[in-house]
Amino acid sequence: MEKQLQHFEYLVYNDITGLDDQDVWMLKEAREVTKHAHAPYSRFQVGAVVKLKNGETVTGSNQENASFPVGLCAERVALAAVSSIHPGVEIDTIAVSYHNLNGDSSRPISPCGMCRQALAEYELKQSTPIRLILGGLSGKVYVVSKANDLLPLSFSSEDLGI
Ligand code: THU
Repeated sequence: MEKQLQHFEYLVYNDITGLDDQDVWMLKEAREVTKHAHAPYSRFQVGAVVKLKNGETVTGSNQENASFPVGLCAERVALAAVSSIHPGVEIDTIAVSYHNLNGDSSRPISPCGMCRQALAEYELKQSTPIRLILGGLSGKVYVVSKANDLLPLSFSSEDLGI
């Protein structure tokens, strides 16, 4: 028996002012995109902005449904749009923000388990890291340099032998 230790590092900024101009723009845009959410059930509006290696950006917001499991998270809406509109173009960074109409929006959220799995798939496919910028409408901002750091021991196509 041996013990394995897995750890990851991420950056924590006290607020948006510590970020460089491009990252500030992305996070502000993600905050704007929360307005496009269709989230009448949770009243938790999420916005995602993806910056591609060719400089293009693509946005996504959560899209809920009266049949609750049909709902999609902002991150997966954005990732699917990237793959459809810009096939083969690598993702550089994703910024995620939210507006919680039930309460506070002043701390970062990080992607749900299903979105982490989706991010891991795209990261493996492009074989370069996908960076994440995570922040609310105000407050601290987290920067994660590799999406798959959020999903240790992840299941992937490698396990399928593909
Ligand atoms: N949601 C996202 O869009 N992204 C996240 O990272 C967390 C959760 C959505 C799903 C649902 O529409 C609402 O937020 C509440 O869970």
